[in-house]
Amino acid sequence: MPQPVVLVAEELAPSALDVLARDFEVRHVDGADRAALLPALAEADAVLVRSATQIDAEALAAAPRLKVVARAGVGLDNVDVPAATARGVMVVNAPTSNIVSAAEQAIALLLATARNIAPAHAALRDGRWQRSEFTGVEISDKTIGIVGLGRIGVLFAQRMAAFGTRLIAYDPYVQPTRAAQIGVRLVSLEELLADSDFISIHLPKTAETLGLIGEKELRLVKPTVRIVNAARGGLVDEQALFNAITEGRVAGAGLDVYATEPCTDSPLFALENVVATPHLGASTVEAQDKAGLAVARSVRLALNGEFVPDA
Ligand code: MLT
Repeated sequence: MPQPVVLVAEELAPSALDVLARDFEVRHVDGADRAALLPALAEADAVLVRSATQIDAEALAAAPRLKVVARAGVGLDNVDVPAATARGVMVVNAPTSNIVSAAEQAIALLLATARNIAPAHAALRDGRWQRSEFTGVEISDKTIGIVGLGRIGVLFAQRMAAFGTRLIAYDPYVQPTRAAQIGVRLVSLEELLADSDFISIHLPKTAETLGLIGEKELRLVKPTVRIVNAARGGLVDEQALFNAITEGRVAGAGLDVYATEPCTDSPLFALENVVATPHLGASTVEAQDKAGLAVARSVRLALNGEFVPDA
């Protein structure tokens, strides 16, 4: 009997590929290349993706044998879950696999914006020894506004507490007592915007959160604020952020995610006080191992007709 086909549409940790190769025929495709993805889905029993592959209604319709979509990561915003469910296709992810890596990426960007790491590095590589141009700010004693106090927001908060900061957060779904347990004071979004010296976003992308920080919100912040988004593109309006930075209403930004990805030509990339990375929040050896193994195990159970517990 032919082995079930597992289509790996994005880079997956070798340890996860080993688990899959024991029982299944593993095929690879570039999930961002639609013209390659759709025909490859025709024989797939399972498809494994990260964030660059859109498993939408069209992709699901191209996959008549599909039993499981596995997202090697936290979010599910690139998978049309209702459409999958309607076709009887199971959707699994690895909700805790990369939360530490994501929190650490946000902190890396925050520190980089505070100390002008990226432009200072670029200047030195260019042969310019510039010190006064790159005077930064301390994090100690500053107010850090956390937008979204879920798993990643909490890890971010716990780590930022060690810098001697004041932590405030906006999250309408979290109880004040729970926030207080980790040393965070819950406030309204308006209060957070007005009081923060640094703002870091830790929300999923939903209809409710898309464009949450836009032109109006960016008019409420201190001109010295630095904004970090290592969560999802589109939560901070990129044009509004560009306007705010160039008009001196925001001091800097650290960005890992963009409204449209891949993104290589944003006007934000030309600004010295913007440090930008290409969606690397989950890209660590440890997170990729955890995410890959978790979804590989789930796919194995699903294709063997066994119960799939939460990863
Ligand atoms: C996630 O949702 O966990 C990440 O964005 C996955 C990725 O890095 O592709």
